[in-house]
Amino acid sequence: MEEMIEKPWYEDPFIQEMMGLMGSRSMRSIMSGFKSNLVFAGENGMSDAARYLDKTLFDDEKRILIIADSFTKKFFSKIEKGFKKYDFKFRIWDGCIPEVPYYTIEEGVKICQEFKPTVIVALGGGSVIDTAKVVNIKYEKPELNLLQIDVVSGAIGLHRKVKHLVAIPTTIGTGSEATTTAILNDTRREPHKKIAVTCDDILPTVVILHPDFVKKLPPYLIAGTGLDTFAHAVGAFVSNWNNPYTSAINLTAIKETIHYLPRLVKYGSKDVEGFEHMQWAALMAGLGFSNTMPGIEHALGHSFGAVMNTHHGMSVGLFTPQSVAWQAKVTERWKDLCPLFDLDITGMPRKKALNALLHEMQLFIRKVNGFASVSEFKNPVIKQKDYQKAIPLMAEFALNDIAHLASYRPLKLNHYKKMFEAAWDSKELVL
Ligand SMILES: [Fe+2]
Repeated sequence: MEEMIEKPWYEDPFIQEMMGLMGSRSMRSIMSGFKSNLVFAGENGMSDAARYLDKTLFDDEKRILIIADSFTKKFFSKIEKGFKKYDFKFRIWDGCIPEVPYYTIEEGVKICQEFKPTVIVALGGGSVIDTAKVVNIKYEKPELNLLQIDVVSGAIGLHRKVKHLVAIPTTIGTGSEATTTAILNDTRREPHKKIAVTCDDILPTVVILHPDFVKKLPPYLIAGTGLDTFAHAVGAFVSNWNNPYTSAINLTAIKETIHYLPRLVKYGSKDVEGFEHMQWAALMAGLGFSNTMPGIEHALGHSFGAVMNTHHGMSVGLFTPQSVAWQAKVTERWKDLCPLFDLDITGMPRKKALNALLHEMQLFIRKVNGFASVSEFKNPVIKQKDYQKAIPLMAEFALNDIAHLASYRPLKLNHYKKMFEAAWDSKELVL
């Protein structure tokens, strides 16, 4: 546990400079893989996944640890039903806590040491899935320093004890089911700071998408987690680590989100088809940003959320137009987003076209009950005086966030300050 006192690898200024170059072809070859998982979706998803897992394990290996939280443990009966034909032993640990404080990991590892699972099922939102990922690392590789597992390390040698890490997302946004990253809260630093652990083999090997796990989501979480999907896909699409594969995935995730999220916000649990589409969109955006990088809307949103205590998806959604605006100075990728908003920019001067796109993005955010500026925030209401005072700290956090690394256009501390200032009313974004 001593390692938590150190800083993570991506806060090293040299690494930050170097990672900015990763958009170049020669540097990109360091990360040659596209990482994705086996997905079972829809009504038969659970039973098909059970059959698959059964086929891959010997009889004396069939031990499943369900990792959940106090809210998601109620879904266990659905898993039990899907697995009833097969002779698995189950244990449930529901000790996950939002934001993944580090001490919960130790608790999960202890359960693993007793039960010796060959399958870990993460049943929940991003915090649960991230907890399961880090528990998996610390169970199989207790000697590893989490802060020094960097993005180019690749695999670290998991899956010798836990053959399958299965994710069953219960939201439509975090994308953690499809990423090689876990975010946890370093409670040893003051103020507490979120850190990212990234390696190939914490990508869940199996994902189960079933509308039953998401259709009762309350409206605020539909909007918030849906906006997280939007931010992942847009941020990764305009970031400099993109490739044709991730671009295709991200564009489809954006298109699906623009189409289905407003429906879901309006009709909620009645719109099962909408939930199915948003589950796919969340997964695709997860793959899309995990195989590139989330954009600077996540550096801004993480920092804003940590200091102002706001919802992750609502926070990164707010800063997504800002991320596009900042990078538009050096790339034309934003133009590919226009048709997704039914925006025809043919013949328009560049600046006018860009502003029209940013305006459409803000309209979309408001349409799904998100907040397009800090002054609009309702949960919690943010006072301008408090916000202004917090800008230097938020800017510093943003500069040291892992999502700072992949911007097409490099940023310094002062740029983040200007962006935070502009976000108060978002009338004129920093270009
Ligand atoms: Fe996110």
